[in-house]
Amino acid sequence: MSENEKIILTGDRPSGKLHIGHYVGSLRQRVALQNKGEFKKIFIMIADTQALTDNFANPEKVRASVTEVALDYLGVGLDPSRVTIFIQSQVPELTELTMYYMNLVSIARVERNPTVKAEIAQKNFGEGVPCGFVCYPISQTSDITAFKATTVPTGEDQKPMIEQAREIVRKFNDIYGPVLVEPDILLESNEACLRLPGTDGHAKMSKSLNNGIYLSDSADTVREKIMSMYTDPTHLKVSDPGHIEGNTVFTYLDAFSKPEHFERYNSGFASLDEMKEQYKKGGLGDVKVKKFLNEVLQEELAPIRERRAEHEKDIPALYEMLKKGCEDARETAAQTLSEVRRAMRIDYFG
Ligand code: TRP
Repeated sequence: MSENEKIILTGDRPSGKLHIGHYVGSLRQRVALQNKGEFKKIFIMIADTQALTDNFANPEKVRASVTEVALDYLGVGLDPSRVTIFIQSQVPELTELTMYYMNLVSIARVERNPTVKAEIAQKNFGEGVPCGFVCYPISQTSDITAFKATTVPTGEDQKPMIEQAREIVRKFNDIYGPVLVEPDILLESNEACLRLPGTDGHAKMSKSLNNGIYLSDSADTVREKIMSMYTDPTHLKVSDPGHIEGNTVFTYLDAFSKPEHFERYNSGFASLDEMKEQYKKGGLGDVKVKKFLNEVLQEELAPIRERRAEHEKDIPALYEMLKKGCEDARETAAQTLSEVRRAMRIDYFG
C-alpha cells in the first residue's frame, strides 16, 4: 500500500493533562506525520469512553480532562485543518461495533492482556474489576477499525491492544468477509522516548506519583522539577565517577537534546556522548547537567505552552473545532458500520 493510501488513528485517555512522556512517546511524532502530509487521513481521538472504564465514578474529572487534552493537542501543534480531532463518546458507532466484536474474543483472552493485567494490579478496583475495563481492548479495536486505520502511532504499552485488534480483524474477516483492515503499530524509534521515566526515576510518569512534567507547566515549575530530579545516588561529589544507566537526567537528554544544543547553551561539550564520558569519569556535577537539560527542555516547551495558553482564551472555539471533528469522524465510522452490518447479515431494511 502506498503511503497516501494509509490512514492513521490514535488517541489518549482524558484522565488529566498530558505530560512530556506523552509528548516524546507519541505527540511529537504525530505532529511530524501531520506535517509530512503523506497520510490520506489522520484521526486523533480523545478516548473519554475508555477513560470512564476506570473513572466511571468521576465524570467531572473526565469531562474537564477532555478540555485539557484538546488544549494539549493544539499546543503541541496538531492542526485541525489537517487532522480530525474528535471525542470517542460522540461517535456511537464505536460502541455498536464493540458489541459485535465482543463475540469474537474469549474471556480468557481479554484476561491475558499484559497491559490490562498491569493496570488492574496498579489500580484499586474495590468492588472488583469492571467488565468495561477488562474489555477496553475490544473497544479500542472498534476505534481503530471504524476508520480502517492502517497505522497506529502510539506508545509501547499499547502493543497488546494492536495485537488484539489484529486478531479480531482476522477473525471478523474470516467469518463475515473482508471488510476490516489489519492495523500496524508505529513506535518511536528512540529508546528513551519509548519509556520516559518520572522525574523521581520511577518507570512511569503519573499524577499520583507526583513525578511528571506537564506540557502546561510554567517555566518556573519545569525548572524546579528538573533541579530536584533523580540522578545517580552514588555520585556524591563532583569528582566522583557517575553512572549514566538509570540516570533520569541523561535519559531525558537522550530524548530531548539535539546536536546544536551543545554549542547554543555553552554546555562545554561537543556532544551528548562527550558529556556522558566526562560524567562517567568524574568531574561533572549534576547541577551543571541539570541546568543544561533545563535550557533544552525550556526551548522545546515554551512554544507549546504559549500556543496552549492562546487557545485556552477561547474555549467555545475549541469545542466548535471538536464538534466538527466529531461530525467528520462519525461520517467515516457510519460508513464502516454499514459495511459491517451488511457482512453480518443484520442489514434488514436495505
Ligand atoms: N489506550 C490509549 C491510552 O491509554 C487510548 C486509546 C483509546 C487509543 N483508543 C485508542 C490509542 C485507539 C490508539 C488507538 O492512551
